[in-house]
Amino acid sequence: MSLKGKNIAIGVCGGIAAYKIASLVRLLVKENANVQVLMTPDAKEFITPLTLATLSKRPVLSDYINRHTETWNNHVELGLQADLLLIAPATANTLSKMAHGACDNLLLATYLSAKCAVMFAPAMDLDMWLHPSTQENVHRLLNFGNILIAPGKGELASGLIGEGRLAEPEEMLQHIQHFFSNSLPLEGKKALVTAGPTHEAIDPVRFIGNHSSGKMGYAIASALQSLGATVTLVSGPTQLPTPPKVNRHDVTSAQEMLEACSSHFETVDIIVMSAAVADYTPVSVASQKIKKKDTNLEIALKKTTDILATLGKKKTNKQTLVGFALETENELQNAQDKLQRKNLDYIVLNSMQDKGAGFGGDTNKVTMIDRKGETQQFELKSKKDVANDIAAVIIAHQAAINS
Ligand code: CTP
Repeated sequence: MSLKGKNIAIGVCGGIAAYKIASLVRLLVKENANVQVLMTPDAKEFITPLTLATLSKRPVLSDYINRHTETWNNHVELGLQADLLLIAPATANTLSKMAHGACDNLLLATYLSAKCAVMFAPAMDLDMWLHPSTQENVHRLLNFGNILIAPGKGELASGLIGEGRLAEPEEMLQHIQHFFSNSLPLEGKKALVTAGPTHEAIDPVRFIGNHSSGKMGYAIASALQSLGATVTLVSGPTQLPTPPKVNRHDVTSAQEMLEACSSHFETVDIIVMSAAVADYTPVSVASQKIKKKDTNLEIALKKTTDILATLGKKKTNKQTLVGFALETENELQNAQDKLQRKNLDYIVLNSMQDKGAGFGGDTNKVTMIDRKGETQQFELKSKKDVANDIAAVIIAHQAAINS
């Protein structure tokens, strides 16, 4: 896809992978993009401004003051002119500064004043990438709405093997082209989300239920919709308004939820089952209100169908299936077993140990576990932010499936 007329600013930081930016600039210029390269002072140790200026056909900017012309390199203008700002390679140092609003060079000032979308492509050594502070900074940046071009796995400059390698120039070009052709990452994707409790009728006026408010599932439906997905929300009884542009399908019982989910399942790419489905339902529903007697009342219960496990059996490798787990003991192991048993791609473990997490409230604290048993632990945050974290993991999974 041609990038004719697109103004793309590339912020180059001081990392060994900076050499790849020469190829990227060439590819972008070939697609007719207007490329403005910005460099941190350290980046110039790794690749010369002359190389990037020659390839981009315009001077590289690094300082606030242009010493040749004695003019001011206006970062606000730069930030306003760009249709996209890509920071690549984004080093641990620059990521940290971006995440915390530091502004000690032209590149960071441009980032802070940019009105356009910002992509960042990290590159660093494995241990630096895995360090909790780097991971936290990446999540902060994702929460600010910046777009991650995830580092690849492979041999690193240090000799270590693992994640941390800057995405290849062709891959960065693809992300940029995708951004301009289709600016939302889940555009064209369909998602099914379940939320809320189910109510299992005992008689015409009574039911067995639970305290789920539905807030987490509604926040997920809303996050996926804002990221471009067409979302169907299968909701048990809640007091919540339907999120904008989400198709809501109301159900009451576990059986109705199963039927609704089964009818949508085959056509969707993403399934997030956050509903607190009743595990048991009365064997029979009394047709008339049950009158009180002097003796104890016993209600026979039968197991409901596990909707998530049912869908897990039918899941294709184009679909991302996410389940939830609420565990009170041996949390990680139980959640991981559940993921395997129900054939999920991810399980979101709700913590019962932390204040502010779980039913009813507006905050939550979760850990996401993938099929390999790798965990990503998030701090206590608003359910909206938790929903964005979950959505970011789903986007990365869908991108990997389709790559
Ligand atoms: N779930 C479902 N259908 C059910 C029960 C649960 O789809 N009948 C889904 C929930 O939406 C959630 C996950 O399964 O995503 C939660 O599983 P949980 O109820 O904790 O699993 P169980 O296997 O019932 O485990 P346990 O009873 O040990 O907690």
